[in-house]
Amino acid sequence: MNKEKPCKLYLAPMEGLGNYCFRNAISLIGGFDEATREFISVPKGAHVKSLAKKFSPDDTSPILQAAQVMGSCPLTLAAISKELEEQGAHRIELNVGCPSNTVTGNGSGSSLLKDPEHLHKILSHMVEATSVPVTAKLRTGYEDTSLFEENLLAAESAGITHLALHGRTKVEGYKGFANLDLIAKAKELLSIPLIGNGDIKNRADALYMLDYTKCDGLMIGRGAVINPWIFHEIRGSDDLENFEQTKIYLERYYENMMKSFPKNQLGQMKGLFSFLFQRSEVLLAKRKEMLRTRDLSPRAFFEYCLEMLTPLEV
Ligand SMILES: Cc1cc2nc3c(=O)[nH]c(=O)nc-3n(C[C@H](O)[C@H](O)[C@H](O)COP(=O)(O)O)c2cc1C
Repeated sequence: MNKEKPCKLYLAPMEGLGNYCFRNAISLIGGFDEATREFISVPKGAHVKSLAKKFSPDDTSPILQAAQVMGSCPLTLAAISKELEEQGAHRIELNVGCPSNTVTGNGSGSSLLKDPEHLHKILSHMVEATSVPVTAKLRTGYEDTSLFEENLLAAESAGITHLALHGRTKVEGYKGFANLDLIAKAKELLSIPLIGNGDIKNRADALYMLDYTKCDGLMIGRGAVINPWIFHEIRGSDDLENFEQTKIYLERYYENMMKSFPKNQLGQMKGLFSFLFQRSEVLLAKRKEMLRTRDLSPRAFFEYCLEMLTPLEV
């Protein structure tokens, strides 16, 4: 991709790792067109008014942030979609990928991939209930990909405006690599825009995914935690990485984290830094030592990590 031929770039939803602290901070670096908040779990009959209050459209301001819901009851998901629109969501996404067994046990997340008709019903109800775009984020299947085509077409025919596809089944979890052949197949099957997702760690991966699958946009999760500049790099933008700005990003993360987490701040920071330290061989060699560090105050630990992330090494 270059400046003359842009495509839409999305920051992936990542429960825990990509929480408010991270999403808000990475928006200072930017380069992506939209973020998606981690899922709001919506059990059947839930009090949707209070659940919808978990969503604030401003987390990534001025970059747009969509809401994501996870559940299995069409009526309840329709009701929360309406509330989320009132809460300011410009787009509402259904999670059809979460592999957690607790979630799939409830018939939500990736277990919706077992029943294309039910998937269609949920999305149709959501589309009907709201006037903002509804989208879906799918995996390629549950145990296997036998319902791949049915699921994609069921989602599209419900009236969603785009579909994001992580190229792995539920059973594959995060193992191996995202299946680009299936992302390419999805592009051939669908008329709505397709957002490709999975394992994009640098500009070359992004260009390869675009070229190989012909997808219309890219969604990046873990790659953005490892390298918060990845979106600018993919765009071939003039806004190249600068360490001062990286420090501003990390300071904002720290500030957000201290406000949001009264306990286990070291654990929270280790979550983020364990990704950031995958950025280069030099940092990777220091990662174990960083993760073993205890008995430092949150600020001292933060300063210690910053010191290791010297400009040359990042
Ligand atoms: C810690 C973590 C939390 C995640 N939480 C969500 C979520 O809330 N909703 C969702 O649709 N996908 C979630 N995902 C999946 C990602 O959005 C994405 O599909 C997956 O990580 C593959 O993309 P990547 O290789 O760019 O990370 C999560 C992934 C991770 C690693």
